[in-house]
Amino acid sequence: MTSLPEREAAVLWPTYARPQVEFVRGQGVRLWDSRGREYLDFLGGIAVVAAGHAHPRVVEAVSAQLGTLGHTSNLYFTGPQVELAERLVDRFGGDAKVFLSNSGAEANEAAIKVARRWGRANRGEEATGVVATLGAFHGRTLATLAATGKPAMHPPFQPLPPGFSHVPFGDADALRAAVGPDTAAVLLEPIQGEAGIRVPPSGYLRAAREITAEAGVLLMVDEIQSGMGRTGRFFAHQHEDVRPDVVTMAKALGSGYPIGATIATAEVADAMRPGDHGTTFGGNPVACAAALATLDVVEPLLGGHVDKVAARLADGLQELRGRLVGRSTWAPPREDGDDGLLPGSEVRGAGLWYALDLGEEAPASARQAALAALGRGLVVNPVTDTALRLAPPLVVTEEEVDEGLARLAAALEEAGLCR
Ligand SMILES: Cc1ncc(COP(=O)(O)O)c(C=O)c1O
Repeated sequence: MTSLPEREAAVLWPTYARPQVEFVRGQGVRLWDSRGREYLDFLGGIAVVAAGHAHPRVVEAVSAQLGTLGHTSNLYFTGPQVELAERLVDRFGGDAKVFLSNSGAEANEAAIKVARRWGRANRGEEATGVVATLGAFHGRTLATLAATGKPAMHPPFQPLPPGFSHVPFGDADALRAAVGPDTAAVLLEPIQGEAGIRVPPSGYLRAAREITAEAGVLLMVDEIQSGMGRTGRFFAHQHEDVRPDVVTMAKALGSGYPIGATIATAEVADAMRPGDHGTTFGGNPVACAAALATLDVVEPLLGGHVDKVAARLADGLQELRGRLVGRSTWAPPREDGDDGLLPGSEVRGAGLWYALDLGEEAPASARQAALAALGRGLVVNPVTDTALRLAPPLVVTEEEVDEGLARLAAALEEAGLCR
């Protein structure tokens, strides 16, 4: 009989390089594969499953909405859409309006469109540029790919929409120098996710706010991966007490039910006119019901639970980092340093969102480490060649964190990465 990977190879685009596993069921922080093997899911569908798999509240809300009214299109009013927008505006701090879509890329696409509309109206016909950062990931549509600061991803898909420039992430002076009369907006991730959970220097977002306010351009914060409580606050930008002009969300917002949101201050949102933007599915009643139920689950976890569990995960990862070994395992890995840590290794992140960077000296790649973890019943992914990403559901317990760390340690030992 033909295997699922073989059947897939025959009929699906070869855009994903997947490990040989088929997950068939999830509950809370656990997944089960087609062979009945159990896993701890410390990736959460790439920072999506914040409420855990099959959370009863989300299941009930989605089922009830689908059984009542699944879709009407955006030609008509729907209550769940307004209710969700009210909740998000409240979280943003009021005086804002939301555009609902189906994904992160779409949320950023809407942000770019509103920035251009607003820039033209408020700063002049030329003010359409978006300054983004090197290493940033903003999506895979043509405009969000152009905003993405990974130049190697661009050539196969050129020509890309013009009007995007990139500056080093975390460098406020470079940002200041890049903002000019042709700029409509600065687009930033508060912590760069796909670049390997890169945390900028403290005060960077505040500096970006000052620079954009002085120049009279928009500050747009991509919270697609960092939002919905991932870093311990509802939005990561709230750690720096900054109010952006535009914030984008997706991923965890609907617990895996596709939904994206672009929140803009009322003044910016009102640059748009009927017909300027739209979507058939975006913000449909089922997606909104999923998001409302997810908010109900996630919001009470912030502050107490997430902080406590996050501290345990961070400590455990630091401890594991202290046990990492380099290629020359016969020699003490930290001969050249005085802290006993493998040079180049690092734990980066905040809240329940971390990268364990194995460093350049690691005897195996992050991909090999992630495969070893899968073999030990732990789902994590290689976010870069040298770093593993952990983004467990926010409902994860301290016991599950300990169990996950034990599985990770066993996998790293097996891969020869850890003492
Ligand atoms: C920060 C950020 N922005 C945008 C996106 C794109 O989201 P989507 O894959 O839902 O289009 C991602 C996805 O990883 C992301 O991490």
